[in-house]
Amino acid sequence: MSVASKPKVTFFCQNCGTQSAKWVGRCTSCNEWNTYVEEVIHKETKNDRLRLFTANKSGAKDSNKPTLIQDVGLQDFPRIAVPGKELTRVLGGGIVPGSLVLFGGEPGIGKSTLMLQLALRLKNLKVLYVSGEESEQQIKMRAERIGITTDSCFILQETNTQNIFQQIAVIEPQLVVLDSIQTLHTSYVESSPGSVSQVRECAAEFLRFAKETNTPVFIIGHITKEGSLAGPKVLEHMVDTVLQFEGDRNHVYRLLRATKNRFGNTNEMGIYEMQGEGLKEVVNPSEILITDRQNATSGVAISATMEGNRPMLIETQALVSSAAYGTPQRSATGYDLRRLSMLLAVLEKRCGFRLEIKDVFINIAGGIRVEDPGIDLALVCAILSSNEDLPIPQSICFAAEVGLTGEIRPVNRIEQRISEAEKLGFEKIIVSSFNMKGINAKNYKIQIVPVSKMEETFSVLFG
Ligand code: TYD
Ligand code: MG
Repeated sequence: MSVASKPKVTFFCQNCGTQSAKWVGRCTSCNEWNTYVEEVIHKETKNDRLRLFTANKSGAKDSNKPTLIQDVGLQDFPRIAVPGKELTRVLGGGIVPGSLVLFGGEPGIGKSTLMLQLALRLKNLKVLYVSGEESEQQIKMRAERIGITTDSCFILQETNTQNIFQQIAVIEPQLVVLDSIQTLHTSYVESSPGSVSQVRECAAEFLRFAKETNTPVFIIGHITKEGSLAGPKVLEHMVDTVLQFEGDRNHVYRLLRATKNRFGNTNEMGIYEMQGEGLKEVVNPSEILITDRQNATSGVAISATMEGNRPMLIETQALVSSAAYGTPQRSATGYDLRRLSMLLAVLEKRCGFRLEIKDVFINIAGGIRVEDPGIDLALVCAILSSNEDLPIPQSICFAAEVGLTGEIRPVNRIEQRISEAEKLGFEKIIVSSFNMKGINAKNYKIQIVPVSKMEETFSVLFG
């Protein structure tokens, strides 16, 4: 490919993607040190780039004219139905034609597996799965493992975007999956694959392709916990939807969240279980996340939480023990450590429990990370139950937030939480008294116990 114009050199912060004409030691945007790297960019003419993916199409649209908002029709907006309830819900009801979806997650979490499953299940759609990471044989082996057969899924092992567009022009797929953005490179930028300018440029090419041909594109991007591989982060503003796949690699459960969605609700969440034959949807998470015990054990409390529009009962566990040496340890799995410190401070200052000399460990069962503050009360009760070595009866669950003054605060969608708890056979649910206005207790068989202070909660639980 001949690129005539002279190369342009720019510096990019590899952490946040900020551009600078000259090298700087500390990024003015994210304040990180030593993150600027020189990257060479070739300027190309607009037509150069459009040529490939519009070759076989009717060409770019004529320039748009303004339309009155009431005249804009929604009829030509049919979504592509996705097999599987979880993904459908997280996407807000299916794939929107021409949408660009960024699918991020840590390496090895199951991104390629989920996308390949999607590609194989969309049997009446021509899908192109582009892989820069695995060979065709490897993908075939994975497909065999998943055990779905289809005759409309093409696999392409390629990393150059111009070559990919060439193949797209031949195959004319109705959905494109790119695995992963860090392996792609465009001839118009000279820096190495995975650098900020490559990632951004490749994504921009596919953005234009998606919008002009109305073909949905899924872009897989690796994100590490520390965010050091920040490439995909710089794409968040340009894509329509950002999906995130998370979970503990040592556990089988995986959570799919939409952190940005121009076509749906971002609170939605899907749960999958990683099995020998790929990812299986978890339809009723409440039943799996609570352990069936013969006897009640201290340090366990069940919380009625909401993840998006879906109520879910989750087991919280705490272990409080005397700190053997020096500084006590605090550790939280699946919950924000700073919020745990806050809850411990509330227990200490407002309720007189001496936890500053204790080690406190908490864990959310199933390796799931919970963001709903409605889990607070269950956590606090699990901590106290472990501290006092008094088990909480297994028929009780909790749904309330704990405030800085030790007050028990109301949570949203309380009736849905209560219904779910009742459905799973709980006999008592402890809620904030400020929530009682929104509850018609006559509708439920489960006993609803309102509390307004931490102290009241203890007397309800332990007499
Ligand atoms: P993968 O989709 O390759 O992760 P990513 O693309 O996010 O890097 O999945 C990696 C893990 O999933 C791998 O360690 C093996 C496991 N796995 C299963 O347990 N069962 C399966 O059926 C498949 C395909 C993978
Ligand atoms: Mg992969």
